[in-house]
Amino acid sequence: MVLPLVFADARTRAGRLADRTSFGVGGVPEFLFEPGTKTDATLDLTFCRRHGVAVRVLGGGSNLLVGDGVLEGAVVATRRLRAVRVLEDRVEVGAGVPLGFLVRRAGRWSIPALSGCVGIPGSVGGAVLGNAGGRFGCVGEALLEVRGVDERGRPFARRVRSGDLGYRECVFEGCLVTGAVFRRDEALEPGVEERLLSRALAHKRATQPLGARSAGCTFRNPAGDPRSAGRLIEEAGLKGRRVGGAVVSDQHANFILNDGHATARDIGALIRSVRREVKTFCGVDLELEVRVWT
Ligand code: EPU
Repeated sequence: MVLPLVFADARTRAGRLADRTSFGVGGVPEFLFEPGTKTDATLDLTFCRRHGVAVRVLGGGSNLLVGDGVLEGAVVATRRLRAVRVLEDRVEVGAGVPLGFLVRRAGRWSIPALSGCVGIPGSVGGAVLGNAGGRFGCVGEALLEVRGVDERGRPFARRVRSGDLGYRECVFEGCLVTGAVFRRDEALEPGVEERLLSRALAHKRATQPLGARSAGCTFRNPAGDPRSAGRLIEEAGLKGRRVGGAVVSDQHANFILNDGHATARDIGALIRSVRREVKTFCGVDLELEVRVWT
């Protein structure tokens, strides 16, 4: 039998998710698993299925709002899935490797398009599932293969096909991603990826509150509308809007910040109020990009 590697405890706050999310909020799950290999991850999922325990997968915790109380079921955290193998034509990376680690080595390892991920916190697994990136490139552009365990507990390794990843979406949603394989492009001119990286970083430093406690962009950009979610929120006059310790960033309106005293309840209430007002003032229904666990 596989036992949880960490015993979460609501009384001692051991395993509390506030310490594992970039928002810095979140309560304690009933069970917390931290598999170090794909085999262990498969066994953990089998254990949960057999006992009827619902499972949620925690990557880098950077695009996630976790409720304040006890979280029913199990959380499987990927942060110990950290193996990296650099081969001639590809790089194999564990899902728990921080995305920033990979982005910083993209030039040296000739992985294209990762400059679009500079400044994005979180793990490689989460970045694959959300097809992290932006105008300077997305994770999906360099992705060859995804490895993991599917919803029915079966391990898989699948080559990525065109259409598998879209804007903030991915066909592997619902699976536990344990690793990813990225293409190396030897034709990539030395220094090109580094130059793109500096440009992307300069743009983000100028426009986003990079060091603050947040979950990045809160809402997806609306499809078919030339206005970004950030612009719409600004147009609705919501920069600086506050509920308790949660505040809409003055720098980029699609970022909600925890000023250090926010609860998940504050952040949730602020999200609802922003949605309501953007609907009233701009006529647009914003869709959440941040995942919510309650
Ligand atoms: N804008 C405003 N007010 C604001 C923010 C933005 O008017 O408060 C305007 C900007 O002036 C610009 C337009 O909106 O004309 C787009 O802004 P930006 O370049 O900042 O890009 P974005 O669409 O807001 C997207 C991704 C970001 C990614 C950047 C850069 C989404 C929801 N967001 O932001 O991703 O970093 O492009 O590539 O797709 C994330 O997903 O967490 C995230 C931060």
